[in-house]
Amino acid sequence: MDDLKNKYLAEIAEAADESALEAIRLAAVGKKGEVSLKMRELGKMTPEERQTAGPKLNALKDEINSALAARKAALGDAALEERLRTEWLDVSLPSRPGRQGTLHPIAQVTEEVTAIFAEMGFAVAEGPRIDTDWYNFDALNIPAHHPARAEMDTFYMHRAEGDNRPPHVLRTHTSPVQIRTMEAKGAPLRIICPGGVYRADYDQTHTPMFHQIEGLAIDTDISMANLKWVLEEFFSAFFEIDGIKTRFRASHFPFTEPSAEVDIQCSWVDGQLRIGEGDDWMEVLGSGMVHPKVLKAGGVDPEKYQGFAFGMGIDRIAMLKYGIPDLRAFFDSDLRWLRHYGFSALDVPTLRAGLSR
Ligand code: PHE
Repeated sequence: MDDLKNKYLAEIAEAADESALEAIRLAAVGKKGEVSLKMRELGKMTPEERQTAGPKLNALKDEINSALAARKAALGDAALEERLRTEWLDVSLPSRPGRQGTLHPIAQVTEEVTAIFAEMGFAVAEGPRIDTDWYNFDALNIPAHHPARAEMDTFYMHRAEGDNRPPHVLRTHTSPVQIRTMEAKGAPLRIICPGGVYRADYDQTHTPMFHQIEGLAIDTDISMANLKWVLEEFFSAFFEIDGIKTRFRASHFPFTEPSAEVDIQCSWVDGQLRIGEGDDWMEVLGSGMVHPKVLKAGGVDPEKYQGFAFGMGIDRIAMLKYGIPDLRAFFDSDLRWLRHYGFSALDVPTLRAGLSR
């Protein structure tokens, strides 16, 4: 037994990596390891022999196991030390010309969308990504127990016991910024609000964090016709195709009445999507006339004012415009992907100079 012990402890001390350790573990205390086979022989011994051999074998097994664990931890520490020693970065160095960073397609598309709406007189508004359930739901005419709350797959912030602040959520859409901006600025109003939103969902076309752009126009004489014109102007400029057709389908949102989902004209040729031609339709946004209760929640008089609102997926329209097939790749931070789909940081999109040079 001493021979076994000396042999394995020496091997463990010399093991160079985790796979070597694993091989030693199997040879010693694995199912068919030397120590395990010895343990099986206990059955053939006399009771007296067993009484001394049993505990000794168990002790040997324990000793080998703890030597394995200790060596594994030491190897891990050494590997971390080595990484810390080699993987460092001097952030004060000037950038290398051949290694410029790129703008992420979402940043680029946000800039493009902002440039188009700015030209039409819309200002940019912002709101917090962590908001109260009042702003995210109640103020938007989605009371507790309304099915829309469940449908949104909301992430709720943890609340400690005795915490009596209002419940907070990761905003499920940019619509709460409608309320915050009405409260802060009153009417008339013409804004867009781009930003990150969150829902518990994950597949090829859904990620738990994604981006929307909200639009809101409030005045004394706003109608669905204004909404349609604004959106058609927007899509023509964004996709750089004159006279792109839209289709409004009746829909339902608690915060708009009437509500419409908007599709843009497209075609599929040999599995390739083309925007702005053909007779297929692609859904791109939700919209409608702001519900009087929502105006009231934002402190705007619904007797005097009305408005339109829309909410559009930024990631979605970025995929359509730049032919990006999988939404999840947006958030993988794969450098090769970022270099391929990224944009030059110095080409600021403007309507005059072109959006997506
Ligand atoms: N907030 C809606 C959504 O996330 C979109 C929307 C915004 C619809 C504004 C109508 C008006 O699905």
